[in-house]
Amino acid sequence: MIPERCGQVSAETIILGIETSCDETSAAVVADGRRIMSNIISSQVPVHQRFGGVVPEIASRKHVELINSVIRQSLDTAGITFRDIDAVAVTYGPGLVGALLVGVSAAKALAYTLSLPLIGLNHIECHIYANFLINPPELPVVCLVVSGGHTDLIFIKEHGNYELIGQTRDDAAGEAFDKVARVMGLGYPGGPLIDRLAAEGNPAAVDFPRAYLESDSFDFSFSGLKSSVLNYLNKAKMRGEKIDKADLAASFQGAVVDVLTDKTVAAAVKYGVSTILLAGGVAANTGLRRELKRRAEPFGISVRYPKPVFCTDNAAMVACAAYYRFLRREFAPLTLNAVPGLKLGADTY
Ligand code: KG4
Ligand code: ZN
Repeated sequence: MIPERCGQVSAETIILGIETSCDETSAAVVADGRRIMSNIISSQVPVHQRFGGVVPEIASRKHVELINSVIRQSLDTAGITFRDIDAVAVTYGPGLVGALLVGVSAAKALAYTLSLPLIGLNHIECHIYANFLINPPELPVVCLVVSGGHTDLIFIKEHGNYELIGQTRDDAAGEAFDKVARVMGLGYPGGPLIDRLAAEGNPAAVDFPRAYLESDSFDFSFSGLKSSVLNYLNKAKMRGEKIDKADLAASFQGAVVDVLTDKTVAAAVKYGVSTILLAGGVAANTGLRRELKRRAEPFGISVRYPKPVFCTDNAAMVACAAYYRFLRREFAPLTLNAVPGLKLGADTY
């Protein structure tokens, strides 16, 4: 059933986006997919920090506590009421099932009571669309999505048309950052901490392995690198040697960045695109941004990435991705459910 209001033509399409797939409770109001009227993010990082990672049950409970006030704040900040909204959008997978369910239930309740279209989105799709906020790039593009749970290389020919050309065979890039930071005793989340330390270190200090896999493969693997860092730390401990944490961070980050940038530029050349997009939490990494630009430039390929606040989880990217589905009239039924293992391009509705 398509609710009545979705056929109306208004000056701008105003979408309320909701994001609860992991440990950020977020709601945003975005007009026409690019004018950000509000983007409220309530981070649970301090709650999970003492456990060294996200505790799913605690994340769900916190989302329940926060969701209503976060949505309220997103409307107040945007200076609108529920009556001004044209559609409600929500991430329904992949992610933690209990966390996703909170956002999905809130979005369905709003869509039903306000008679608005409901738009269900893939979290990876939302990360990609963080690049379309403010100043949308032209398609086709190759996008590298690097987050805590994913490392995907995607060819995007047109809106809604995704071809997965490579992915990690084990750990995600962000996961590797977080695990290495933990064994180095840096804290959680590890990515930003390693990024900061790496800026002061020598990337050539330790020669960590780079997993390129088969020569024609765009897949990634980070578990070997993670084990190498662990072995390096254990050996140093056994020998009683002092470790230069900045050098270690820079060498680890350099190994991750080398493989990510080499494969992404090779994919962009193979697919004949003139733009590379970076997306996901690890897209905030300063070394990755810099290196990717440097290596893509000689091929005449430009590199674009969102502001750091739109790289990590937020609802503005949800509302932005939803706008393009709104234009295609791709609305979800009110039976929409959370799908923790949702694959990109494999929507369940
Ligand atoms: O996209 P995101 O917020 O959540 C997921 O969908 O997973 O990504 C979180 C990940 C964490 O692993 C975090 O350590 C990493 O992004 N991250 C970074 C940086 N900022 C966040 N990794 C490297 N450098 C950064 N500056
Ligand atoms: Zn994410």
